[in-house]
Amino acid sequence: MPKLFDREIDRKKSDSIKWNLYDSDVLPMWVADMDFAAPPTVIQALKSRVEHGVFGYAGDPVELRRVIIDRLAEKYGWSIKTEDIVFTPGVVVGFNIAAQAVSKPGGELIIQPPVYPPFFKTGSYAEMVTVENPLIQDGDGYYRINFNDFEQKITEKTCMFLLCNPHNPVGRVFKREELERLAEICLRHNVVICSDEIHGDLIFKGHQHVPLASISPDIANKTITLMAPSKTFNIAGLDCSFAIIQNKELREQYLKAMKGITGNTNMLGITAALAAYQTGDPWLEDLMMYLQDNRDYLKRTLDADMPEIKMVLPEGTYLAWLDCRQAGLKEAPYDFFLKNARVAFNNGDAFGSGGKGFVRMNFGCTRVTLNEALNRMKLALQKVKN
Ligand SMILES: Cc1ncc(COP(=O)(O)O)c(C=O)c1O
Repeated sequence: MPKLFDREIDRKKSDSIKWNLYDSDVLPMWVADMDFAAPPTVIQALKSRVEHGVFGYAGDPVELRRVIIDRLAEKYGWSIKTEDIVFTPGVVVGFNIAAQAVSKPGGELIIQPPVYPPFFKTGSYAEMVTVENPLIQDGDGYYRINFNDFEQKITEKTCMFLLCNPHNPVGRVFKREELERLAEICLRHNVVICSDEIHGDLIFKGHQHVPLASISPDIANKTITLMAPSKTFNIAGLDCSFAIIQNKELREQYLKAMKGITGNTNMLGITAALAAYQTGDPWLEDLMMYLQDNRDYLKRTLDADMPEIKMVLPEGTYLAWLDCRQAGLKEAPYDFFLKNARVAFNNGDAFGSGGKGFVRMNFGCTRVTLNEALNRMKLALQKVKN
């Protein structure tokens, strides 16, 4: 395995929320950033930019636009134009702008829980009612979309469907057929889709990310796609992401909703994004090998040592959705592990319906850290049994 990702880096003195929110004896396995340094080429580009020394207002990142266009064409055969890209300082900002742009009084927003917690606030920020189309689990724990329920939940008030693909926290990378079916329903009912694809580069072997809007021009016409290099190259703190909106009218609505509230992104974010997309792919290949190894090791260890905790292999992301419902715990697993193992996960309850009894674990860390978390969990669970 690449040694690069085994390097332990002290993040406590780096303004990291992940490493500073809890007491110092707590091992943080929660918020979705990784413990790895960004690709060396990205660090080098940032150093050169910092050495320049002048940090005035950034202009339009023309070169980054071109690199994004080439990347989407090459990876997905998706052809977009330069004006289709709208930069934003984050994907959460991006989907909240989308909701503001399309909402109408009394409007409704559809989401698919259990899902990334900020999705639950977007409707209310834009004065919309949030309607849930929960994902359903097979007997083996695998998550699927309930299409009948999805269509039934759409009314004449539905303004937007906020899709999460790859899905955080369940780790599904939705298949082309699933996406086509969702889009077909939305198009038939004239619903705008905002597709959060922030995890779209973090895909494990055997799976393929399909940007929803790349499927057909008709779907693209109704879709706002949100992407970023932030999760992929571990540069989330640099706030550089973008929306792709091929429908001019929809794009103008989006730009209008941004006016006076948020601008593009920032100078260092642009530098890092450009270097990441231009030079980061060999690093990304190594990263995916390391993450896949961590994922498989996590699953093997749980199965062998803590079989009461169930995990379905995620198809993408570096997040594992651990089902602790059969562990016989008297309290929420988040509280149990925090108190007894001194390990901080994300609390399943925060992901809405279907999250109770689960925790989300971030395995974007060194194998040493992952092992430490697993050992602590095992000991804590043993104490419950004795
Ligand atoms: C699905 C999803 N969307 C958005 C974000 C955050 O994006 P940003 O930091 O660009 O706002 C996350 C972070 O975990 C995420 O998982």
